[in-house]
Amino acid sequence: MALITERKFLGFPEGFLWGAATSHFQIEGHPEELSHKLSDWSQWTATAGKIADASTADLACQFFERFGADMEICRDLNLNAFRISLNWPILCPVAPKPGQPLVLDPKGVTYYRELLASLKADGVTTFVTIFHFTLPHWLSAKGGWNNPESVSDFASFAEQAAIAFGDLVDFWLTLNEPLAYVYQGYVSGLWPPGNKHDYLGAFTSIRYMLEGHALAYKVIHNQRPGARVSFAMHWRPFVPKTRWNPFDCMVTYFRNYVFNRMFPQAVQLGELSFPYPISENGAVKALSGPILGLKGTQDYIAVNYYTRELSCFKFKWPIDIFGVASDKPEYEVNCLGWENFPDGFYQTLVNDLKPFKYNLDGSLRPIYVTENGFPTAFNADMAEGDWSLTDDLRVNYLITHLHALHRAINDGANVKGYLYWSLLDNFEWAEGLKARFGLVRITYPTQERTLRKSAHVYANIAKKNGILSGSMVENEI
Ligand code: FCB
Repeated sequence: MALITERKFLGFPEGFLWGAATSHFQIEGHPEELSHKLSDWSQWTATAGKIADASTADLACQFFERFGADMEICRDLNLNAFRISLNWPILCPVAPKPGQPLVLDPKGVTYYRELLASLKADGVTTFVTIFHFTLPHWLSAKGGWNNPESVSDFASFAEQAAIAFGDLVDFWLTLNEPLAYVYQGYVSGLWPPGNKHDYLGAFTSIRYMLEGHALAYKVIHNQRPGARVSFAMHWRPFVPKTRWNPFDCMVTYFRNYVFNRMFPQAVQLGELSFPYPISENGAVKALSGPILGLKGTQDYIAVNYYTRELSCFKFKWPIDIFGVASDKPEYEVNCLGWENFPDGFYQTLVNDLKPFKYNLDGSLRPIYVTENGFPTAFNADMAEGDWSLTDDLRVNYLITHLHALHRAINDGANVKGYLYWSLLDNFEWAEGLKARFGLVRITYPTQERTLRKSAHVYANIAKKNGILSGSMVENEI
């Protein structure tokens, strides 16, 4: 008991948002998308060998049918913010006619309007991502983000989404983690389109995603002048494995530039610049340079933070600009091999995001943490439903990261909200159902929802709008 009384209450700013983040493909289990294979991802999961545990997202969390009950869970957890993403393949199952705007499927519109309206009825602030990794099949079939038409297709979708849902959306995110997307799709090849070491494909996608973002920003604002629009960046600080090794430092610099800074810097300055000497390549040069309407198209900063990565130079590893993640982490790692490094969260918020701190008019941009979370492994020898609800590792991750966040705010970071990834266990892309991030355990295949210890801890933090100092996690409940 003595410990509890000695601990300090660390309050968050008034009106702080406490929420959870999700994405459509990982939770919805949309029957039409899956039965008609309407997206690149539904086709990908149906292909042997693409998903680590051979699972599919065919059912996922059946959120499409069960969202009403899941919204009650949000209420029980005292959450006042929620992030969803739009299922582009479902909303636009057929290609637009040339020169015509995209037409949204009315059933899809009804579903999202009901979902968003139920959130608004509960007083929940809504974050809506327009592109969270899945493409309609008709677009992936013509080259996805490598096709210049993706720019107008995306902007047209964004415009229709603003018309259909704009009254129910508080924060728009045009794109989720563009660099994570292009890395997995065009460099590692673990996600669709499955291209390996296709750097030109990756850089081309970056260019068109920037153009698509700029246009989407404009059309959303045209429809709803007061809209708040941004994109979610995955910020993963790279750190040299050996500080005195100039090669480790060099690859770390490149990786930080390309993965973290290049995209937001392009948005800030209105111009895409690749690092030297890559920039000297003729094809890359053609992708560089100013982008019309891009400058300053970020009304707030949306950042996803999970971990940092120690980088070592490896000549035989051109894949990551000759940098490879160290196999000797310095801190505890989770089941995906990610270091638990809350200080990186603090550094990101306080230092790394500084260049993007101000809008063009000099006003301060608010920051929202649109993802942060911890996976636990569901291994083949475990039984669904019997799996322990005492997820102390997740509780520890949550608490240490919220302490870092509190420190960051005290030290000047303008953070206004935090969305935990994720409310429910869900389909984790190429990892399938092996890595589970939920505050709430899903028992497959019954779909039973059970709150984990972390859910109770988080609900309490949200209710009090603060957290206790110290690390004795048991006392947080
Ligand atoms: C992020 C993705 C999200 C989820 C988490 C674990 O990179 O945006 O969909 O997969 O990682």
